[in-house]
Amino acid sequence: MFQRLRALFGKATIKPSQTLDTENIPQHIAIIMDGNGRWAKSRGLPRMAGHHSGMKTVKRITMAADRLGVKFLTLYAFSTENWKRPKAEVEFLMKLPQEFLSIELNELIEKNVQVRMMGYKSDLPDHTLHAIEEAMHKTANNTGLVLNFALNYGSRSEMLEAVRQIGQSVKAGDLQPEDIEETHLADRLLTAGMPDPDLLIRTSGELRLSNFMLWQLAYSEMWFTDVYWPEFTEEHFYDAITEYQRRARRYGGL
Ligand code: IPE
Ligand code: IPE
Ligand code: MG
Repeated sequence: MFQRLRALFGKATIKPSQTLDTENIPQHIAIIMDGNGRWAKSRGLPRMAGHHSGMKTVKRITMAADRLGVKFLTLYAFSTENWKRPKAEVEFLMKLPQEFLSIELNELIEKNVQVRMMGYKSDLPDHTLHAIEEAMHKTANNTGLVLNFALNYGSRSEMLEAVRQIGQSVKAGDLQPEDIEETHLADRLLTAGMPDPDLLIRTSGELRLSNFMLWQLAYSEMWFTDVYWPEFTEEHFYDAITEYQRRARRYGGL
C-alpha cells in the first residue's frame, strides 16, 4: 500500500493521509466552493481578492483529484442566484474562467483533463463563454479527469427544463405518463451520462445545498468543513476522502 502511494505521489512533498485507500477513491466528487468573501474580509481584503485566491485552490484540488484517479470533479463556481450580487462582483467572477484557463489550459491539456461546463450558457458574457468553449473544444478528446464547472447552474431550473422536455414528449404522443421513469429525467439533466457524485464537499461552514445537484445528490456522502475555500488544501481534500472511505453506503439496504 505504501509503495502504491509512493508511486502515486512521487517526490511530491504532499503526504496523503495514511488511512487513504487507493482502491476506494470516489469516482465523482462535487464541491460547493464557498467562503471566498469571508476569507477576504477576515484579512481586510476586498471580496474579489478572495475569489482570486480561490482560483488557486481550484488548481490545487484539480491536480490532487487527477493524481488520485478521481474520474469526475464538479465545481460549483456560480449559481443561477449569484446574479443577485453587486454588478462589479458579478463582472469580476465572469472574468475568472478566462483568467484561470489562460494560465492553466496548457497544463490541463498535458494532464489529459477534459474540461466541461454545466449551466445556462445563454446568460453568460461572450468573453466568458468563449474561454470555456475553447477549453472544452481543445480538451474534448481527453480521457483523464473530467473537470466539470457548474457555472450559472441551478438545480431547480435544470429539473424544470427536464420536466418541460418530458412534457413535450408526452404531448407529442411519444411517451405515456405511466411509462416515465427515473432515467427519463436523469437523461435530460445537465449531468446526463455522468455518474451521480459519490462525495459532496462544502467549505466555509454553511450546511446547505444552495440549489446544487438536488436530484444527483440523493445518495451522495456529504462532508462539510469550516475552512474557507481559499485555504482549502490537499490535506483537507484527503481528509474528506478518508472520511468518505469510513462511511457505509447502504442505499436504503442493510
Ligand atoms: C464562493 O464564495 C464563490 C461564489 C459563490 C461565487 P462566496 O463569494 O459565496 O463567499 P462568502 O460565502 O460570501 O464568504
Ligand atoms: C453557493 O454559494 C454557490 C457557489 C458556491 C457557486 P453561495 O454563497 O451563493 O450560497 P448561499 O447564498 O450562502 O446559500
Ligand atoms: Mg457564499
